[in-house]
Amino acid sequence: MKAPVRVTVTGAAGQISYSLLFRIASGAMLGEDQPVILQLLEITPALEALKGVAMELDDCAFPLLAGMVCTDDPNVAFKDTDYALLVGARPRGPGMERKDLLSANAEIFSVQGKAINDHASRDVKVLVVGNPANTNALIAQRNAPDINPRQFTAMMRLDHNRALTQLAQKTGKTIADVKNLVVWGNHSATQYPDVHNATVDGAAAMSLIDQPWYENDFIPTVQQRGAAIIKARGASSAASAANAAIDHMRDWALGSAEGDWVSMGIYSDGSYGIEEGLIYSFPCVCKNGDWEIVQGVETNDFSKARMKATEQELKEERDAVAHLLP
Ligand code: NAD
Ligand code: LMR
Repeated sequence: MKAPVRVTVTGAAGQISYSLLFRIASGAMLGEDQPVILQLLEITPALEALKGVAMELDDCAFPLLAGMVCTDDPNVAFKDTDYALLVGARPRGPGMERKDLLSANAEIFSVQGKAINDHASRDVKVLVVGNPANTNALIAQRNAPDINPRQFTAMMRLDHNRALTQLAQKTGKTIADVKNLVVWGNHSATQYPDVHNATVDGAAAMSLIDQPWYENDFIPTVQQRGAAIIKARGASSAASAANAAIDHMRDWALGSAEGDWVSMGIYSDGSYGIEEGLIYSFPCVCKNGDWEIVQGVETNDFSKARMKATEQELKEERDAVAHLLP
């Protein structure tokens, strides 16, 4: 058995965490040979509810759960942490866009970025889930100047997984048959799910679908899936969001599937003409605990226009929180 690693989860008494924590403790995220110490952060009024979640985690008798810390102090929650999942933030309700949450949530990520900078392991891997995830990740990253910006990521895996399923269902194939799909840009209604380079069971995806379905059905369905779930469920996605967080962190830590891509919101190095420093989703592969942007992906005029539109939205979100970006 390996030595335990520390995993911080914020918003630990919330809906997503109620799925997420149990899967982390079971080994689904970091492997069945990797014990974890859970460092759980909540706001003070939710500490009693968090106590209940911790009791349930105890009652699962997970062999890999090597310890638990429950706290309302970010400096305690991020102490020496190896993996930080920043979930705690207000979710949107019907009729809202995710960026409408910026004023309510942005401050949280500047406080937590500073706490990560001061207390986390220098190799910490950070995943921001709380919305608007890309800009919140940017805020956390900019408040942690001593940590490599590559270590701050935003969750696009739910969008990626949604796109996989829509394409597999349309073509009558399985998820495992779909390869090299990517969702570019922001976790918002401007995100661009791109199947131009994707294959389904070895065939070019674009040869199996028609342009009107792609433009008028597939892309809006994936872009609007979060809102559709809020409408149907009366609350934002939780179990599927937790599942995507597990997928994102597992692939980053242990490596992504050979011959395939994953979508991750990462620090732009200027690839594909996207402004350096934005947290933008690119096609990535992960190995040796690190990610790399897949280079040389063909982008036609249709793709370029959509990639630019979602970049533009990220610039506007960034400018709206300029006061939180040191
Ligand atoms: P929730 O309201 O059920 O839980 C959020 C929890 O965060 C609450 O328990 C709250 O007390 C806690 N919290 C608030 N401020 C905090 C702080 N400063 N420190 C620590 N904890 C704090 O919400 P949820 O359904 O779990 O969703 C959480 C966030 O994730 C929302 O912003 C939602 O929009 C977002 N989300 C993102 C994706 C994605 O794909 N990126 C998917 C689903 C949901
Ligand atoms: C999602 O995509 O399901 C989440 O970001 C929640 C939301 O507000 O849509």
